[in-house]
Amino acid sequence: MKNFVYSIPTKIFFGKGQIEKIGTEILKYGKKVLLVYGKGSIKSNGIYDKVIEILKENEIEYFELGGIDPNPRTESVYKGAEICKENKVDLILAMGGGSTIDCAKAISLQSKYDGDFWEDLYINGRKELIKEVTPVASILTLSATGSEMNGNSVISKKESNLKVGFSHEKIKPVFSVEDPEYTYSVNKYQTCAGAIDIMSHLFEQYFSTEKDGFLQNRLIEGILKTVIHYAPIAIENPKDYEARANIMWASSLGLNELVSYGKLSTDWATHNIEHQLSAVYDITHGIGLGILTPAWMKYVLSENNIHRFVDYGKNIWNLSGTDMEIAEKSIEKTKEFFTSLGCPSSLSEINIDDTHFEKMAENAVARGAFGSMKKLNKEDVIAIYKLAL
Ligand code: NZQ
Ligand code: ZN
Repeated sequence: MKNFVYSIPTKIFFGKGQIEKIGTEILKYGKKVLLVYGKGSIKSNGIYDKVIEILKENEIEYFELGGIDPNPRTESVYKGAEICKENKVDLILAMGGGSTIDCAKAISLQSKYDGDFWEDLYINGRKELIKEVTPVASILTLSATGSEMNGNSVISKKESNLKVGFSHEKIKPVFSVEDPEYTYSVNKYQTCAGAIDIMSHLFEQYFSTEKDGFLQNRLIEGILKTVIHYAPIAIENPKDYEARANIMWASSLGLNELVSYGKLSTDWATHNIEHQLSAVYDITHGIGLGILTPAWMKYVLSENNIHRFVDYGKNIWNLSGTDMEIAEKSIEKTKEFFTSLGCPSSLSEINIDDTHFEKMAENAVARGAFGSMKKLNKEDVIAIYKLAL
């Protein structure tokens, strides 16, 4: 196992009614808050009204930036940072899914930075330029990305068809509220996409050529089994508290570094390949992953890494047979499961053809070949897109 520093500083308020805690928590940082939210779900399900009531009770002044897009854009980040600078905001409170939280994190970076967050941080990765940020907190309303408990932020720049991620310790939320009831209003499509996203984060950390990571892989299998058990239940009955609660906690544990601390390597190829797809076509991240994952699995499977597929097939899907039979069957099982949740099974099903494969593959390899199960170059990425057609 590699050396690691365990640092998961986000305080989680999990469960029914935990929103009541936000007044006291916010006051630890100051009396001025920027509320960041999406296109309206928090207004129709009552979360917005509840937050405003609590802010008023606690005499906390608030500013607002609504309308954040799924696959959030650079423009929203600049707008939010302006509001923070002008009003000396003490804390940014994101209310929504990963897009809203990611946008709040980018606002937090830009609000205390004189240069351009996009060029200097997201494109050129110059983490050392970050000296100070505005603290971020979140009220999670969609279980998927793990953004509520990690330091990642993924932003899109529409003009250049680029979608880029950035990570920094300082933008891990200082606290997050996770009330499973807030996800009752998430529709079947987004519930399916969220479940696949959680599973994909786990795959990215599970699949690697190294034979280390015994403990980490068992933790991952536990979370995978949880999602496989509860996602169909949540889709069937959106108000099943246990299902929503298990999926919500799985979302946070799936991508807060806990399951990868100490592992020699992780993969993250499918995410990179998907980000290019949603950058160009603006599709839902989890749906892109659902289509690409089985194609990626088929493409990278080799004698070199088959042990990982065998573990996966035996421990998750109870498969038996020769190693190759187990591996191939495990890929079929994965695809069957995703389609059973309602995920389209190919790119052509969502009207995507090969027009932009070259350019998307070029963007995917902009920082060089990537992936642990198999190092992928531009031609490999094109081949995976074609397998997913
Ligand atoms: O905009 P509103 O009205 O809020 O509607 C949203 C949006 O349309 C809706 N929604 C959210 N909560 C709801 C709800 N609808 C009804 N009831 C609720 N309680 O769901 C739609 C999708 O929301 P979004 O935030 O875009 O979804 P998600 O959480 O899947 O986030 C996706 C974004 O996160 C990035 C993705 O690339 C994508 O841009 N990722 C972020 C990561 C991270 N920070 O660690 C890692 C991931 O791999 C991912 O890349
Ligand atoms: Zn993801």
